[in-house]
Amino acid sequence: MKLLFQTLCLCLALGLATPSHHEGHLQGDEPAGDAPKHDHSMHHAAVLDRCAGMEMDAVAITEQGVPYFFEGDHLFKGFHGKAELSNQSFSELDDHHHLGHVDAAFHMHIPDAPEHHDHMFFFLDTKVFSYYNHTLEPGYPKDIKEVFPGVPDHLDAAVECPEEDCKSNLVIFFKGDDIYHYDVKTQKMDEKEFASMPNCTSAFRWLGHYYCFHGHQFSKFDPMTGEVHGRYPKDAREYFMRCPKFGDASNHVEREQCSHVHLDAVTSDDAGSVYAFRAHHFLRMEGEKMHSDTIESAFKELHSEVDAVFSYEGHMHMIKDSEVYVYKVGEPHTHLEGYPKPLKEELGIDGPVDAAFVCQDHHIAHVIKDQTLYEVDLKATPRVPIKDGPLTLFKYVDAAMCGPDGVKIVVGNHFYHFESLMIMQAAKAIPEAKRVSTELFGCDH
Ligand SMILES: *[C@@H]1O[C@H](CO)[C@@H](O)[C@H](O)[C@H]1NC(C)=O
Ligand SMILES: *[C@@H]1O[C@H](CO)[C@@H](O)[C@H](O)[C@H]1NC(C)=O
Ligand SMILES: *[C@@H]1O[C@H](CO)[C@@H](O)[C@H](O)[C@H]1NC(C)=O
Repeated sequence: MKLLFQTLCLCLALGLATPSHHEGHLQGDEPAGDAPKHDHSMHHAAVLDRCAGMEMDAVAITEQGVPYFFEGDHLFKGFHGKAELSNQSFSELDDHHHLGHVDAAFHMHIPDAPEHHDHMFFFLDTKVFSYYNHTLEPGYPKDIKEVFPGVPDHLDAAVECPEEDCKSNLVIFFKGDDIYHYDVKTQKMDEKEFASMPNCTSAFRWLGHYYCFHGHQFSKFDPMTGEVHGRYPKDAREYFMRCPKFGDASNHVEREQCSHVHLDAVTSDDAGSVYAFRAHHFLRMEGEKMHSDTIESAFKELHSEVDAVFSYEGHMHMIKDSEVYVYKVGEPHTHLEGYPKPLKEELGIDGPVDAAFVCQDHHIAHVIKDQTLYEVDLKATPRVPIKDGPLTLFKYVDAAMCGPDGVKIVVGNHFYHFESLMIMQAAKAIPEAKRVSTELFGCDH
């Protein structure tokens, strides 16, 4: 309605301002849509091109891990592809025309409250919509103040912050330069000072990191303190949209992110970059930056198909059959003199092995071989493996990594997250399976 009204006004205005010139048009010998092509709202209805650099209204991840970017009455699913009308996916958003576009959206993560868990929440003016499986929950839309007491109307952005990142299950709401931590369970609101943060028009959590979008730029922020570390803002088109003229054009990246083929090995280095190896290729993730290439090009001596990789003191130890290759992390990765060496000599274990990892700030290599976990003290000479018990939770393991947030065991195209090695060793049951493609590598479909 609003759109039609604006278009009509513009046509009338043009008609009045230059009657003689536009007379023909007004007679109807050309389409009426011709005149207002510079009108912003018309542009929306026509072609939305995210590579032209647009500001998103809201972003949220679906329960399948697909990011949805909202702009006006349109929606982009994933990091590439065309805009579609948002009412095609969420038809009820349209039943309330006066509400306008989606101001803010987030994906609720609260496993112990199944009535809200995994729901998508959309905020429009004073109302909130709760969707599960793309279906509006009964009784919605509701007033924001009824569902989220204390949260203001006309929000700018919202993002969930689960317990693992924020100590309790929070939603962070943004309005102008006001920022609130909302505790989902206690419904307590905490106003925050995020001094270095720009005003966000949308925000989302992706692969465990928090991003605030402003204009066509974004900044990564700490959800607890709002601090922005590193070189931000960056252009969203180089990272969150696949735009031909921006960023790494290598199409290996998407194939490696989205593949369902099992991994050979995965590790995270001291700086937090993740390296994943699969047959002849590897994928490197440094925060939101993704890179992929052949193993041959970056780890020449290794060629391809590694069995296990762990990172230790700035080096990647790569185990292949019964040998160990050691590369210094950095560009380019340099292979250490004297390697490869026999695995038996390096770790005291006979190859082949299934997986290996070192947890942060420790000097113990944990090696998985045939449902047995071994420990090797890397500071000891000679290095002697100690049997650290069976690992019967899994029939086999493809790859494993350990980071500040615990241990991830990769089996096929799923991974299993344990908050610590001790928790893994004590576990009687396998935790929830998560998808490697979407939840570890940020594949968008
Ligand atoms: C969706 O929105 C478009 C434009 O806003 C409108 O023309 C169309 O009728 C709507 N479709 C439905 C199913 O509501
Ligand atoms: C999701 O909705 C579709 C139909 O839209 C239905 O077939 C499917 O069973 C639903 N899934 C769940 C988990 O409710
Ligand atoms: C941020 O929002 C506040 C209102 O809350 C406004 O006064 C300020 O100008 C905004 N800053 C920018 C850079 O838009």
